[in-house]
Amino acid sequence: MKFKEFKIHHFKGYVQNNYIVEYKDKILIIDGASRPDVDPLHKYITKTLNSPVEKVKLFAVTHCHPDHAGAAGIFKKRFGTPIAAPHDIDEWYHGFRGTLQHLSDTLQSRFMARKLKAKHRVLYYNKRIGPDFKLYDRSVLPGFEDWEAIHSPGHTMHNISFYNKKYGILYVSDTIIDSRGKFLPPVPVLFPELMKQTLRRIGMIKPEYLLLAHGGQPFYKFNQKMIDDPIRIINAGPPIYIRLFYFISKFTNVYRKNREHA
Ligand SMILES: [Fe+2]
Repeated sequence: MKFKEFKIHHFKGYVQNNYIVEYKDKILIIDGASRPDVDPLHKYITKTLNSPVEKVKLFAVTHCHPDHAGAAGIFKKRFGTPIAAPHDIDEWYHGFRGTLQHLSDTLQSRFMARKLKAKHRVLYYNKRIGPDFKLYDRSVLPGFEDWEAIHSPGHTMHNISFYNKKYGILYVSDTIIDSRGKFLPPVPVLFPELMKQTLRRIGMIKPEYLLLAHGGQPFYKFNQKMIDDPIRIINAGPPIYIRLFYFISKFTNVYRKNREHA
């Protein structure tokens, strides 16, 4: 998708979508991808875009899950690309309970990869992201001041979205999932009330384009149904077969501390 200052390339990652925002003199990678995406991402930048990897100035990460933070750390180690992420991202997997959650989430990602018939690959990654730039609600992305972070709690406490106001482009990560044309909330929604607030806020922003981490289309024209449907599903409560995933998604101390929102 082409805009005046940049092009947005859709990069189909291991189990998620990523977005590569290419400016004349710099590149921004939106979301931290999965561990198996490190080499394909490098290849995409150097071969498909014919750019040196040094042109990538920032990896912008929305939350700590394996398909959103699995590649960024390794990419940084190899190529020195700095990471911008929620200021409190590392609290989620902190301590023993956090380690348990990290293992559980990595296993859940493996399950998802199997469901999507993706090749078996190692998904394990360092649970500590250690962002170079800590993002808060409305923080602008360093070096990419036309993009800002929007705090989007619900799926985790620290989730953020990335918004380009000029063109009304909003990357919502896992907040909205497209499953064959149906707009669903993610699994899990640990904080349903906060998630509904996040969805309503997206509705108020009224973006022009919505970019999803999980969905069949690279770009969506926004419509209110994308907000109303997930809210309706959250109000109905998770179906029984999904509840197992809730059971194994509630280990963290951050979750326990914020249980009043659950
Ligand atoms: Fe997630």
